[in-house]
Amino acid sequence: MIVQDAVLRNEWIVACRSTDVLDRPTQVTIMGERIVLFRNEEGIHAFKDLCIHRGAALSLGCVRDGKLVCPYHGWEYESSGACVKIPQLPEDQAIPGKARAIPYACVERYGFIWVNLSNESPAFFALPEFEDENYRNVIWGPQTVNAKPPRVVENFLDVGHLAVVHEGYLGVSTHTEIGDYRVHRDADGVIRTDEIAVFQPDPDGTGQAKHVYYTYEIIRPLTVKFTKRDQENGNKMSILLTVMPLNEQETVAYGVLSFNYEMNLEDEEITKFQDLIFAQDKPIVENQKPEDLPLDLQIELSLKCDRASIAYRQYLTEMGVKLGTA
Ligand code: FES
Repeated sequence: MIVQDAVLRNEWIVACRSTDVLDRPTQVTIMGERIVLFRNEEGIHAFKDLCIHRGAALSLGCVRDGKLVCPYHGWEYESSGACVKIPQLPEDQAIPGKARAIPYACVERYGFIWVNLSNESPAFFALPEFEDENYRNVIWGPQTVNAKPPRVVENFLDVGHLAVVHEGYLGVSTHTEIGDYRVHRDADGVIRTDEIAVFQPDPDGTGQAKHVYYTYEIIRPLTVKFTKRDQENGNKMSILLTVMPLNEQETVAYGVLSFNYEMNLEDEEITKFQDLIFAQDKPIVENQKPEDLPLDLQIELSLKCDRASIAYRQYLTEMGVKLGTA
């Protein structure tokens, strides 16, 4: 079922990791829509995963001489979506103008492939850490969650759960209080919190428990970030979370983990830890009721430490996002 949300269809939505599309076409499903991604010498391309001839999935075909070849009768589509070869057609007959695949806008950025279902090219958000040579960037995901996107995103913005759900990892049960903080919208349009003190058992791998300082950012309806700063040594770690609505009910999460300090860990060890943290959140998020995030702030009972969540709900209201909200 195709999911209609005019606001989200106009967003850049993460489709998969760059490394998921090499020399073979790949199928992804975004908001219930099957899409084929393929790569040729001109770059990355996204089409509706449907051959106009007999409805075959183009993703089952191959890329030959830069053309996407349908697996059923071998029609060949070039980057624009135009069909340039129909093997069954006698040479003296022209290819019908209607023989086209339906293209979507598609870009490759920050280690991922992004698709715009409205075929627009809206401005892309900045991720300074990815361009900065002082940062090591690690790609994380995919992780599929049986929950709607706003619930998954809001969980990421929730500072109060760290010492409860992630006790021993991201928080300590003797330090559950959260000080008050403000939320502001900056000139770049991003909504940011003040730094929030969080007491962690071992924030830098030395075994020393201490306070670190979290800043949360609401960048786009499906993309948020936090940055953890250690005041003692200037170490910074950020995680960009971006989610893809798979259909009405399921969400796929991806991330970029950025570090400005050395760590004696392989990328796989870093993503494994993030998987563990995500697995702790998953049963909570998958069982929240209502499944749709309430945008009416009277429906659930918020605390001052929920200011980031409240700002996110207000932002979704302002943007007019419907999918996964009530
Ligand atoms: Fe694709 Fe026939 S269904 S070429």
